[in-house]
Amino acid sequence: MAKVGIFYGSTEGNTERVVGKIQNALGGEDVATLYNVDSASAEDLEDYDNIILACPTWEIGELQEDWDNFIDELDDVDFSGKKVTFVGVGDADGYPDTFVDAPGIIYDKIKDSGATFVGAWPTDGYDFEESKAVVNEGEFLGLVIDEDNQSDLTDSRVEKWSEQISKEFDLQAESV
Ligand SMILES: Cc1cc2nc3c(=O)[nH]c(=O)nc-3n(C[C@H](O)[C@H](O)[C@H](O)COP(=O)(O)O)c2cc1C
Repeated sequence: MAKVGIFYGSTEGNTERVVGKIQNALGGEDVATLYNVDSASAEDLEDYDNIILACPTWEIGELQEDWDNFIDELDDVDFSGKKVTFVGVGDADGYPDTFVDAPGIIYDKIKDSGATFVGAWPTDGYDFEESKAVVNEGEFLGLVIDEDNQSDLTDSRVEKWSEQISKEFDLQAESV
C-alpha cells in the first residue's frame, strides 16, 4: 500500500495534471495513489495516514462539482492520527475575491476532526484579494497552483512543495 492517498476532482483537467506531477515528485505510484473523487469513498480515505485533498474552485467560490458530491463522505472518516494537506487550483486574475476558496471549504468541514494539518504554503508571489484557503495570515492551507496565469511556475512550485510534504509526511525517514 502506498503511503500517500491523493484525492482530487478536476473538471477541465488542470488539477488532474497537477496531482500527477505531485505523484511523480513524491516518488511515483509506489509512494502515492491517485483517487478521482467521482468514484472514491470514505473507506479509500481510511486506508491512508497521509492524505492530500486537491480541488479546483468553480462557480465563483464553490467546490468543483465532483468534490461537491463527495464532501459529505468526509463525515464518515476517522481522521485521528492522519496528516492532511490540500492542493488548490484556481485563477487569481479572473476570481481575485474567491481565489482557491475550495481548500478552505473542505478545511472548514474537517478542521475539528482530529486530523493534523501540514503543508502550509506562503502566499508570496500570488496576486489576489481574498481566499478561504488563507486561514493563517500569509499562508495558504496547502499548495496553490494557478494554471490560468502562472503555469510557468507550476513545476517549480510542485517540486518545492513535494519536498516539503515528503518531510512533513515523514516519507524520507521511512524510506531510508
Ligand atoms: C465559471 C468558472 C468559475 C470559476 N471560479 C473560480 C473561483 O471562484 N476561484 C478560483 O480561484 N478559480 C475559479 N475558476 C478557475 C478554475 O478553478 C481554474 O481554471 C482551474 O484551473 C480549473 O481546474 P480543473 O481543470 O481541474 O477543473 C473558475 C473558472 C470558471 C470557468
